[in-house]
Amino acid sequence: MLFYEFQNSTKIVSGKNSIANIPAELGFFNSKRPLLISDAVLNKIGTVEKISKSLKDGNIEIGYTYTEVPQDSDLEVINKLCKIYKENNCDSIVAVGGGSVIDTAKGVRMLISQNVQDINDLMGNEILKYGIHVPFIVIPTTAGTGSEVTLVAVIEDKIKNVKMEFISYFLLPDVAILDPKMTVSLPKKATASTGMDALCHAIEAYSCIQKNPMSDSYAISAISLIRDNLLKAIENGNDEEARLNMANASLMAGVSFSNSMVGLVHAIGHSLGAICHIPHGDAISILLPYVMEYNLDKCEENYAKLLFFFGTEEEYMNTPKEKRAEKLIEKVRNMINDLHEKTGLPNKLEISDEEIEKVAKTAINDGAIIVNPKKADYEDIVEILRKAR
Ligand SMILES: [Fe+2]
Repeated sequence: MLFYEFQNSTKIVSGKNSIANIPAELGFFNSKRPLLISDAVLNKIGTVEKISKSLKDGNIEIGYTYTEVPQDSDLEVINKLCKIYKENNCDSIVAVGGGSVIDTAKGVRMLISQNVQDINDLMGNEILKYGIHVPFIVIPTTAGTGSEVTLVAVIEDKIKNVKMEFISYFLLPDVAILDPKMTVSLPKKATASTGMDALCHAIEAYSCIQKNPMSDSYAISAISLIRDNLLKAIENGNDEEARLNMANASLMAGVSFSNSMVGLVHAIGHSLGAICHIPHGDAISILLPYVMEYNLDKCEENYAKLLFFFGTEEEYMNTPKEKRAEKLIEKVRNMINDLHEKTGLPNKLEISDEEIEKVAKTAINDGAIIVNPKKADYEDIVEILRKAR
């Protein structure tokens, strides 16, 4: 590591009832009419109402509430929201949701701040200019994507059937609010799936070739929090302490990979999502131990160090140095099998030979493959997918 860049400019407000701070946070930007963005499920279960109430209690008038964000962040919805923002004289954005809602909100903010009509003009890495500042507050309702602190937005163009990836420091939200009330209603399987995505972000960030001392420190803290809290949050969804710890873990893993990168698990996982429509966290969880085995000869030292943070102190001390990396993989696999039994989280891929070929062909062109510690080719990916089946 001879050179690195690191940025986490998002302010973090974390704690029980921290959603009560949203009006004050908007006040710091002199914002008075936010566009509130969320999805239909969160509207139905009352999460959106909790945020609306917090805003109204703080004398903030909501410019418009939109709760129809689809499963995948979509270009047309972003264009529509951009119009709604302008027509309703909004002056800020509050996003409440998982990765898709947050990425949609990032897209809307990008269009308004760059003052363009077509999002296609903004494709590519680091091409955005500072633009007009649109105050942007994010309240995540899953503990997994870390999108509340990442510089990435993935947006789908349904007409062209492509997923566009935007990467820019100007995509970083201004404020992330972590409130355990936002995740207590998350079902067990979704808690497991998103939690394993966060674990993978931290492990891949700690072992990819762009790792740096800052991203490492966030990754190891995230890993320990997941070790101590994921099962607790699954066993008792109302355990607010475990929920809050998982929200913090997900955020820290997000900061980590936003400043290093992910790797081969995500390269293959993105393709499994696009081709076989396997939920992101499920695909990542299934692949993680197999890719770790593949990477083992290049990552032995890093994986061995991570055993200290994912296992117990005794386990680390009692495992011979040359066996620690393998022990880490064994522990990750045990966790996946445990989650499979407790929540039904899949631990094997159900895909055909034909699908394996398609997924491997797409994965070799995914950006995440570039920073993987071991260079993987088509045959390597086919082999990993076959083992994971
Ligand atoms: Fe992920």
